[in-house]
Amino acid sequence: MTDHILVERRDAVQIIRLNRPEKKNAITRAMYAAMATALTEGDGDEAVRCHAIFGGPEAFSAGNDLADFLTVATGGEGGEEVFDFLLALAGCRKPLVSGVDGIAVGIGTTINLHCDLTFATPETVFRTPFVDLGLVPEAGSSLLGPRVLGPQRAFALLALGEALDAEAALAAGLIHRIVDASSLEKTALSAARALAAKPPEALRITRDLLRGPRDEVFARIREEGEHFRARLKSDEARAAFTAFMNRKRDGA
Ligand code: COA
Repeated sequence: MTDHILVERRDAVQIIRLNRPEKKNAITRAMYAAMATALTEGDGDEAVRCHAIFGGPEAFSAGNDLADFLTVATGGEGGEEVFDFLLALAGCRKPLVSGVDGIAVGIGTTINLHCDLTFATPETVFRTPFVDLGLVPEAGSSLLGPRVLGPQRAFALLALGEALDAEAALAAGLIHRIVDASSLEKTALSAARALAAKPPEALRITRDLLRGPRDEVFARIREEGEHFRARLKSDEARAAFTAFMNRKRDGA
């Protein structure tokens, strides 16, 4: 268990909240495991009709914990929890709403490709520096990214590493609405509650039809995962993680 992920129920909405502000909500193995459990348990509980995912003010998430990446890069264990989370996310049977403020890096961006409604503040910046880190896109983003954003914008985000601010994300179709930080949670929860009040079976079928076959998303997550695992151990990736971990010491 980790208190870096807080899970609460508000009526029929299950809220999953990233709660590691001191590290800009960088996601550790324990956090992935906790989120996977919450999604799976919430999906299996009839009392839950909708999931909502929030980060913190000013940082939705700085992406995967780079210290965890470095551990794998240098021969240590890790990776299964991320995978469990990604499969739970892509396989989710109930609507997913997210509320994003500030930094949304790596998986902090790609989570939202699995969300049905994403609300973001004007201060939000989405960024996926996978290639700069010697890595490849994950979370099915190499499949869902071009579908949602179109091939050029997906390439600019996922390969070039170009950031998308909230306006650009709205124009690209990555998010549903821009709302001020002060009303982000209220607005996202109100949408989640509206979804939770719908006839659940009709909503489930509608969502399944709109999202399309899951098998190809699972297959892509696995394919990306194979490359990702290999890339984590590459010299390019090791150098990038080490540079990040040492940057403050170098500057001191
Ligand atoms: N993994 C581990 N720690 C991270 C982290 C990550 N992904 N992102 C931020 N942190 C930590 C920092 O090391 C710092 O810790 P410290 O105070 O103990 O030194 C703390 O979070 C605050 O981050 P800081 O860099 O000081 O904040 P900032 O506002 O100047 O910059 C970011 C925020 C997100 C732009 C910057 O931290 C960053 O680029 N992080 C890496 C993002 C990334 O590449 N993620 C992986 C994507 S696949």
